[in-house]
Amino acid sequence: MSYHRIASALRPPALRLAVSQPRYMTGLSALARAACRQKQAPPVPVLDSDCSSSWQDMTPIGTGETMVVLSFRAAAGMGAAFERVVQQLSLELDSVEAGVSDVRVMAGAGGEATFVVTLLSRAEAQRFERTIRPSIQTALAEVSEGGEPCFSSGGMLVPHAHTLGSLLQSLTRHLSGTSRTAEHDVRAVAAELRRWYPRKEEYGGFLSVDEDDPGRYTRNVVHSTPAMEVLMMCWPPGSQSTIHCHDESSCWVTAVEGEVHEVQFDLPLLDRKFERARARLEGAPADPAGHIRGRCGPLRRIRVSPLGGPGDGPELGCKQTYANNEIGIHRIENRSLEPAVTMHVYAPRLRKMKIFRDSGEVSEVTVTSDDSTTVEDVGSWQAELLDVAGWNGA
Ligand SMILES: [Fe+2]
Repeated sequence: MSYHRIASALRPPALRLAVSQPRYMTGLSALARAACRQKQAPPVPVLDSDCSSSWQDMTPIGTGETMVVLSFRAAAGMGAAFERVVQQLSLELDSVEAGVSDVRVMAGAGGEATFVVTLLSRAEAQRFERTIRPSIQTALAEVSEGGEPCFSSGGMLVPHAHTLGSLLQSLTRHLSGTSRTAEHDVRAVAAELRRWYPRKEEYGGFLSVDEDDPGRYTRNVVHSTPAMEVLMMCWPPGSQSTIHCHDESSCWVTAVEGEVHEVQFDLPLLDRKFERARARLEGAPADPAGHIRGRCGPLRRIRVSPLGGPGDGPELGCKQTYANNEIGIHRIENRSLEPAVTMHVYAPRLRKMKIFRDSGEVSEVTVTSDDSTTVEDVGSWQAELLDVAGWNGA
Protein backbone atom coordinates (compact mmCIF):
# COMPACT_ATOMS: atom_id res chain seq x y z
CA MET A 1 0.00 0.00 0.00
CA SER A 2 1.41 3.41 -0.95
CA TYR A 3 1.59 6.25 1.50
CA HIS A 4 -1.08 8.01 -0.56
CA ARG A 5 -3.47 5.12 0.09
CA ILE A 6 -2.56 5.10 3.78
CA ALA A 7 -3.33 8.79 3.99
CA SER A 8 -6.59 8.12 2.22
CA ALA A 9 -7.46 5.45 4.74
CA LEU A 10 -6.75 7.93 7.49
CA ARG A 11 -9.04 10.69 6.38
CA PRO A 12 -10.28 13.02 9.13
CA PRO A 13 -12.36 11.45 11.91
CA ALA A 14 -15.83 10.64 10.67
CA LEU A 15 -17.80 11.87 13.67
CA ARG A 16 -20.43 12.97 11.19
CA LEU A 17 -21.31 9.34 10.41
CA ALA A 18 -24.67 7.84 11.15
CA VAL A 19 -25.62 8.02 14.80
CA SER A 20 -26.99 4.51 14.62
CA GLN A 21 -23.45 3.22 14.33
CA PRO A 22 -21.82 2.38 17.64
CA ARG A 23 -20.03 5.52 18.82
CA TYR A 24 -17.09 3.31 19.61
CA MET A 25 -16.46 3.06 15.87
CA THR A 26 -17.23 6.54 14.67
CA GLY A 27 -13.83 8.04 15.41
CA LEU A 28 -12.05 5.33 13.45
CA SER A 29 -14.51 4.70 10.69
CA ALA A 30 -11.85 5.35 8.06
CA LEU A 31 -9.53 2.94 9.80
CA ALA A 32 -12.33 0.44 10.10
CA ARG A 33 -12.88 0.57 6.37
CA ALA A 34 -9.21 -0.08 5.85
CA ALA A 35 -9.41 -3.02 8.19
CA CYS A 36 -12.24 -4.51 6.16
CA ARG A 37 -9.89 -4.72 3.23
CA GLN A 38 -7.57 -7.03 5.04
CA LYS A 39 -7.83 -10.26 6.91
CA GLN A 40 -8.90 -9.58 10.48
CA ALA A 41 -6.04 -9.74 12.95
CA PRO A 42 -6.23 -12.36 15.67
CA PRO A 43 -7.02 -11.12 19.17
CA VAL A 44 -4.29 -10.62 21.71
CA PRO A 45 -4.37 -13.87 23.72
CA VAL A 46 -3.66 -12.26 27.09
CA LEU A 47 -6.99 -10.47 26.96
CA ASP A 48 -9.01 -13.58 26.27
CA SER A 49 -7.48 -16.19 28.50
CA ASP A 50 -4.58 -17.10 30.71
CA CYS A 51 -5.48 -14.53 33.37
CA SER A 52 -4.98 -16.25 36.69
CA SER A 53 -8.07 -16.43 38.85
CA SER A 54 -6.44 -14.32 41.55
CA TRP A 55 -6.00 -11.40 39.18
CA GLN A 56 -9.56 -11.71 37.99
CA ASP A 57 -10.77 -11.79 41.58
CA MET A 58 -9.10 -8.45 42.17
CA THR A 59 -11.22 -6.59 39.61
CA PRO A 60 -14.12 -5.98 42.04
CA ILE A 61 -11.83 -3.76 44.10
CA GLY A 62 -10.41 -2.05 41.03
CA THR A 63 -12.26 -0.32 38.23
CA GLY A 64 -12.25 -3.35 35.94
CA GLU A 65 -10.33 -1.37 33.34
CA THR A 66 -8.17 -3.18 30.81
CA MET A 67 -5.10 -1.83 29.05
CA VAL A 68 -3.75 -2.61 25.60
CA VAL A 69 -0.19 -1.73 24.61
CA LEU A 70 0.99 -1.87 20.97
CA SER A 71 4.46 -0.82 19.84
CA PHE A 72 5.62 -0.36 16.25
CA ARG A 73 9.05 0.50 14.91
CA ALA A 74 9.56 2.55 11.74
CA ALA A 75 10.74 0.60 8.72
CA ALA A 76 14.13 1.57 7.30
CA GLY A 77 13.90 4.80 5.37
CA MET A 78 10.25 5.31 6.35
CA GLY A 79 10.75 7.41 9.45
CA ALA A 80 8.96 10.51 8.23
CA ALA A 81 6.01 8.60 6.78
CA PHE A 82 5.81 6.48 9.93
CA GLU A 83 5.72 9.58 12.10
CA ARG A 84 2.89 11.11 10.08
CA VAL A 85 0.77 7.95 10.21
CA VAL A 86 1.33 7.66 13.94
CA GLN A 87 0.35 11.30 14.38
CA GLN A 88 -2.86 10.78 12.45
CA LEU A 89 -3.66 7.59 14.38
CA SER A 90 -3.10 9.46 17.62
CA LEU A 91 -5.60 12.08 16.54
CA GLU A 92 -8.19 9.53 15.53
CA LEU A 93 -7.78 7.35 18.60
CA ASP A 94 -8.22 10.41 20.75
CA SER A 95 -11.61 11.01 19.16
CA VAL A 96 -12.90 7.58 20.17
CA GLU A 97 -15.18 8.08 23.16
CA ALA A 98 -17.27 5.00 23.83
CA GLY A 99 -15.60 2.15 25.68
CA VAL A 100 -12.31 4.00 26.07
CA SER A 101 -11.16 5.78 29.22
CA ASP A 102 -7.70 6.91 28.12
CA VAL A 103 -5.44 6.99 25.05
CA ARG A 104 -1.72 7.79 25.09
CA VAL A 105 0.74 7.57 22.23
CA MET A 106 4.40 7.57 23.08
CA ALA A 107 7.24 8.31 20.65
CA GLY A 108 10.32 6.38 21.67
CA ALA A 109 13.93 6.28 20.60
CA GLY A 110 14.84 4.58 17.34
CA GLY A 111 11.62 5.49 15.56
CA GLU A 112 9.38 3.51 17.87
CA ALA A 113 5.78 4.44 18.64
CA THR A 114 3.74 2.90 21.44
CA PHE A 115 -0.04 3.08 21.71
CA VAL A 116 -1.40 2.71 25.24
CA VAL A 117 -5.17 2.43 25.28
CA THR A 118 -7.19 1.96 28.46
CA LEU A 119 -10.62 0.43 28.01
CA LEU A 120 -13.51 0.23 30.42
CA SER A 121 -13.74 -3.55 30.64
CA ARG A 122 -12.53 -6.81 29.20
CA ALA A 123 -15.48 -6.79 26.80
CA GLU A 124 -14.42 -3.40 25.46
CA ALA A 125 -10.86 -4.67 25.12
CA GLN A 126 -12.05 -7.62 23.09
CA ARG A 127 -14.05 -5.24 20.90
CA PHE A 128 -10.90 -3.17 20.45
CA GLU A 129 -9.07 -6.30 19.29
CA ARG A 130 -11.73 -7.05 16.70
CA THR A 131 -12.12 -3.55 15.31
CA ILE A 132 -9.56 -0.88 16.10
CA ARG A 133 -6.40 -2.93 16.40
CA PRO A 134 -6.69 -4.33 12.84
CA SER A 135 -7.17 -0.76 11.62
CA ILE A 136 -4.04 0.44 13.35
CA GLN A 137 -2.04 -2.45 11.96
CA THR A 138 -3.34 -1.83 8.47
CA ALA A 139 -2.47 1.85 8.61
CA LEU A 140 1.08 1.09 9.74
CA ALA A 141 1.63 -2.04 7.67
CA GLU A 142 3.88 -0.51 5.02
CA VAL A 143 5.75 2.00 7.14
CA SER A 144 6.64 -0.18 10.12
CA GLU A 145 9.30 -2.79 10.57
CA GLY A 146 7.88 -6.19 9.65
CA GLY A 147 4.47 -4.63 9.12
CA GLU A 148 3.28 -5.61 12.57
CA PRO A 149 3.78 -4.63 16.22
CA CYS A 150 7.23 -5.23 17.64
CA PHE A 151 5.58 -5.49 21.08
CA SER A 152 2.03 -6.27 22.05
CA SER A 153 0.50 -6.83 25.46
CA GLY A 154 -2.68 -6.31 27.39
CA GLY A 155 -4.33 -7.08 30.68
CA MET A 156 -6.38 -5.81 33.58
CA LEU A 157 -5.18 -2.77 35.47
CA VAL A 158 -3.94 -3.69 38.91
CA PRO A 159 -6.04 -1.87 41.52
CA HIS A 160 -4.39 0.04 44.34
CA ALA A 161 -5.05 -2.79 46.75
CA HIS A 162 -3.54 -3.28 50.18
CA THR A 163 -1.31 -6.14 51.13
CA LEU A 164 -1.73 -7.24 54.73
CA GLY A 165 1.33 -5.23 55.71
CA SER A 166 0.23 -2.01 54.03
CA LEU A 167 -3.28 -2.44 55.42
CA LEU A 168 -1.94 -2.65 58.97
CA GLN A 169 0.25 0.40 58.42
CA SER A 170 -2.71 2.32 57.09
CA LEU A 171 -4.96 1.24 59.97
CA THR A 172 -2.26 2.24 62.42
CA ARG A 173 -2.24 5.76 60.99
CA HIS A 174 -6.03 6.01 61.25
CA LEU A 175 -6.28 4.49 64.70
CA SER A 176 -3.43 6.00 66.67
CA GLY A 177 -3.85 6.92 70.30
CA THR A 178 -6.49 5.36 72.48
CA SER A 179 -9.47 7.34 71.28
CA ARG A 180 -12.92 6.21 72.14
CA THR A 181 -15.45 4.97 69.66
CA ALA A 182 -16.98 8.36 68.89
CA GLU A 183 -13.68 9.82 67.71
CA HIS A 184 -12.98 7.25 65.01
CA ASP A 185 -13.34 7.99 61.32
CA VAL A 186 -15.40 4.88 60.75
CA ARG A 187 -15.82 5.40 57.00
CA ALA A 188 -12.12 5.99 56.39
CA VAL A 189 -11.19 2.78 58.17
CA ALA A 190 -13.89 0.89 56.29
CA ALA A 191 -12.52 2.25 53.01
CA GLU A 192 -9.03 0.99 53.84
CA LEU A 193 -10.42 -2.44 54.68
CA ARG A 194 -12.27 -2.57 51.36
CA ARG A 195 -8.97 -1.93 49.60
CA TRP A 196 -7.40 -5.03 51.14
CA TYR A 197 -6.96 -7.95 48.76
CA PRO A 198 -6.59 -10.98 51.07
CA ARG A 199 -3.74 -13.25 50.10
CA LYS A 200 -3.76 -16.61 51.83
CA GLU A 201 0.04 -16.74 51.92
CA GLU A 202 -0.06 -13.58 54.07
CA TYR A 203 -2.87 -14.33 56.51
CA GLY A 204 -2.82 -18.15 56.43
CA GLY A 205 -0.25 -18.27 59.23
CA PHE A 206 -2.71 -16.58 61.55
CA LEU A 207 -5.43 -19.19 61.21
CA SER A 208 -5.83 -21.96 63.74
CA VAL A 209 -8.10 -24.76 64.88
CA ASP A 210 -9.10 -25.39 68.49
CA GLU A 211 -7.65 -28.87 68.93
CA ASP A 212 -9.70 -29.50 72.08
CA ASP A 213 -12.93 -28.74 70.28
CA PRO A 214 -12.57 -28.27 66.48
CA GLY A 215 -16.16 -27.04 66.32
CA ARG A 216 -15.39 -23.84 68.22
CA TYR A 217 -14.31 -20.63 66.61
CA THR A 218 -10.82 -19.29 67.31
CA ARG A 219 -9.43 -15.78 67.75
CA ASN A 220 -5.90 -15.25 66.45
CA VAL A 221 -3.89 -12.11 67.03
CA VAL A 222 -2.29 -10.51 63.97
CA HIS A 223 -1.42 -7.14 65.44
CA SER A 224 -1.85 -5.74 68.91
CA THR A 225 -1.10 -2.38 70.47
CA PRO A 226 -3.12 -0.43 73.06
CA ALA A 227 -4.55 1.67 70.20
CA MET A 228 -5.60 -1.15 67.93
CA GLU A 229 -5.88 -4.89 67.72
CA VAL A 230 -6.37 -6.97 64.60
CA LEU A 231 -7.54 -10.57 64.86
CA MET A 232 -8.21 -13.30 62.34
CA MET A 233 -11.13 -15.48 63.41
CA CYS A 234 -11.79 -18.97 62.10
CA TRP A 235 -15.40 -20.13 62.02
CA PRO A 236 -16.00 -23.86 61.56
CA PRO A 237 -19.38 -24.78 60.05
CA GLY A 238 -22.13 -24.22 62.61
CA SER A 239 -19.95 -22.29 65.05
CA GLN A 240 -20.99 -19.02 66.62
CA SER A 241 -19.81 -16.50 69.16
CA THR A 242 -21.69 -15.58 72.26
CA ILE A 243 -23.66 -12.36 72.25
CA HIS A 244 -21.18 -9.71 73.34
CA CYS A 245 -20.56 -5.99 73.56
CA HIS A 246 -17.36 -4.13 72.62
CA ASP A 247 -16.88 -2.02 75.74
CA GLU A 248 -15.43 1.33 74.55
CA SER A 249 -14.01 -0.03 71.31
CA SER A 250 -15.01 0.26 67.69
CA CYS A 251 -15.19 -3.07 65.90
CA TRP A 252 -14.91 -3.55 62.13
CA VAL A 253 -15.62 -7.06 60.86
CA THR A 254 -14.42 -8.06 57.40
CA ALA A 255 -15.37 -11.27 55.61
CA VAL A 256 -12.24 -12.93 54.25
CA GLU A 257 -13.42 -16.45 53.36
CA GLY A 258 -16.88 -17.95 53.27
CA GLU A 259 -19.99 -16.39 54.73
CA VAL A 260 -21.00 -15.45 58.27
CA HIS A 261 -24.06 -13.74 59.66
CA GLU A 262 -23.99 -10.88 62.12
CA VAL A 263 -26.99 -10.79 64.46
CA GLN A 264 -27.35 -7.45 66.24
CA PHE A 265 -29.25 -6.83 69.48
CA ASP A 266 -30.09 -3.75 71.50
CA LEU A 267 -27.82 -3.27 74.51
CA PRO A 268 -30.07 -4.58 77.33
CA LEU A 269 -30.43 -3.14 80.81
CA LEU A 270 -28.22 -4.64 83.51
CA ASP A 271 -29.36 -5.44 87.04
CA ARG A 272 -28.17 -3.45 90.02
CA LYS A 273 -26.10 -6.34 91.34
CA PHE A 274 -23.99 -6.26 88.18
CA GLU A 275 -23.66 -2.48 88.21
CA ARG A 276 -22.61 -2.43 91.89
CA ALA A 277 -20.00 -5.12 91.28
CA ARG A 278 -18.60 -3.18 88.36
CA ALA A 279 -18.48 0.04 90.40
CA ARG A 280 -16.51 -1.71 93.12
CA LEU A 281 -13.94 -2.90 90.58
CA GLU A 282 -13.60 0.42 88.81
CA GLY A 283 -9.86 1.11 88.60
CA ALA A 284 -8.94 -2.25 90.05
CA PRO A 285 -6.61 -4.58 88.14
CA ALA A 286 -8.26 -6.53 85.36
CA ASP A 287 -9.41 -9.96 86.37
CA PRO A 288 -9.21 -12.54 83.59
CA ALA A 289 -11.53 -14.84 85.51
CA GLY A 290 -14.41 -12.60 84.54
CA HIS A 291 -16.16 -12.96 87.85
CA ILE A 292 -18.50 -10.00 87.45
CA ARG A 293 -21.82 -11.67 86.95
CA GLY A 294 -25.39 -10.52 86.97
CA ARG A 295 -28.58 -10.51 84.99
CA CYS A 296 -29.82 -8.48 82.06
CA GLY A 297 -33.13 -7.55 80.54
CA PRO A 298 -34.58 -9.27 77.46
CA LEU A 299 -32.35 -9.40 74.40
CA ARG A 300 -34.10 -7.69 71.50
CA ARG A 301 -32.86 -8.68 68.05
CA ILE A 302 -32.72 -5.69 65.70
CA ARG A 303 -30.89 -6.88 62.60
CA VAL A 304 -29.44 -9.91 60.83
CA SER A 305 -26.82 -9.20 58.16
CA PRO A 306 -25.09 -11.73 55.93
CA LEU A 307 -21.43 -10.95 55.49
CA GLY A 308 -19.38 -12.32 52.62
CA GLY A 309 -22.14 -14.24 50.86
CA PRO A 310 -22.69 -14.17 47.10
CA GLY A 311 -25.29 -11.39 47.29
CA ASP A 312 -23.15 -9.15 49.45
CA GLY A 313 -22.34 -6.26 47.14
CA PRO A 314 -20.12 -7.34 44.23
CA GLU A 315 -18.99 -3.75 43.82
CA LEU A 316 -17.04 -3.92 47.04
CA GLY A 317 -13.77 -5.60 47.85
CA CYS A 318 -13.77 -7.19 51.27
CA LYS A 319 -17.27 -7.30 52.77
CA GLN A 320 -17.55 -5.76 56.19
CA THR A 321 -19.67 -4.41 58.99
CA TYR A 322 -19.14 -2.11 61.96
CA ALA A 323 -20.32 -2.21 65.55
CA ASN A 324 -19.94 -0.35 68.81
CA ASN A 325 -22.03 -0.28 71.96
CA GLU A 326 -24.10 2.67 70.76
CA ILE A 327 -25.18 0.66 67.72
CA GLY A 328 -25.77 -2.52 69.70
CA ILE A 329 -24.27 -5.81 70.70
CA HIS A 330 -23.90 -8.75 68.39
CA ARG A 331 -23.24 -12.38 67.71
CA ILE A 332 -21.34 -13.77 64.71
CA GLU A 333 -22.62 -17.07 63.30
CA ASN A 334 -21.42 -19.40 60.60
CA ARG A 335 -24.70 -20.83 59.36
CA SER A 336 -23.11 -22.47 56.34
CA LEU A 337 -21.59 -25.89 55.80
CA GLU A 338 -18.22 -24.39 54.90
CA PRO A 339 -15.55 -22.86 57.14
CA ALA A 340 -15.37 -19.07 57.21
CA VAL A 341 -12.64 -16.59 58.10
CA THR A 342 -13.12 -13.00 59.25
CA MET A 343 -10.80 -10.16 60.19
CA HIS A 344 -11.73 -8.06 63.22
CA VAL A 345 -10.25 -4.65 63.95
CA TYR A 346 -10.74 -3.28 67.47
CA ALA A 347 -9.79 0.25 68.42
CA PRO A 348 -8.72 0.78 71.07
CA ARG A 349 -7.69 -2.76 71.91
CA LEU A 350 -10.52 -4.64 73.53
CA ARG A 351 -9.69 -5.00 77.22
CA LYS A 352 -12.95 -6.41 78.46
CA MET A 353 -16.40 -7.18 77.22
CA LYS A 354 -19.73 -8.38 78.50
CA ILE A 355 -21.17 -11.66 77.41
CA PHE A 356 -24.93 -12.06 77.34
CA ARG A 357 -26.90 -15.29 77.43
CA ASP A 358 -30.41 -15.86 76.17
CA SER A 359 -31.18 -17.07 79.71
CA GLY A 360 -30.64 -13.50 80.99
CA GLU A 361 -27.21 -14.06 82.51
CA VAL A 362 -24.50 -11.52 81.87
CA SER A 363 -20.83 -11.65 82.75
CA GLU A 364 -17.84 -9.46 82.08
CA VAL A 365 -14.63 -11.06 80.89
CA THR A 366 -11.21 -9.51 80.56
CA VAL A 367 -9.07 -9.95 77.48
CA THR A 368 -5.31 -9.99 77.65
CA SER A 369 -2.86 -9.71 74.80
CA ASP A 370 0.83 -9.24 74.11
CA ASP A 371 1.87 -5.58 73.87
CA SER A 372 4.91 -6.40 71.76
CA THR A 373 3.05 -7.49 68.67
CA THR A 374 3.48 -4.68 66.17
CA VAL A 375 3.00 -4.16 62.49
CA GLU A 376 6.69 -4.77 61.80
CA ASP A 377 6.30 -8.32 63.04
CA VAL A 378 3.84 -9.32 60.35
CA GLY A 379 5.05 -12.29 58.42
CA SER A 380 7.49 -13.54 61.03
CA TRP A 381 5.49 -13.49 64.21
CA GLN A 382 3.97 -16.73 65.43
CA ALA A 383 0.20 -16.55 65.60
CA GLU A 384 -1.05 -16.33 69.15
CA LEU A 385 -4.20 -18.21 69.88
CA LEU A 386 -6.58 -16.28 72.08
CA ASP A 387 -9.48 -18.60 72.54
CA VAL A 388 -11.76 -18.06 75.47
CA ALA A 389 -14.31 -20.77 76.00
CA GLY A 390 -16.87 -18.23 77.12
CA TRP A 391 -16.73 -16.41 73.79
CA ASN A 392 -18.02 -19.43 71.95
CA GLY A 393 -21.76 -19.78 71.74
CA ALA A 394 -23.73 -22.94 72.23
FE1 LIG B 1 -17.72 -8.62 68.16
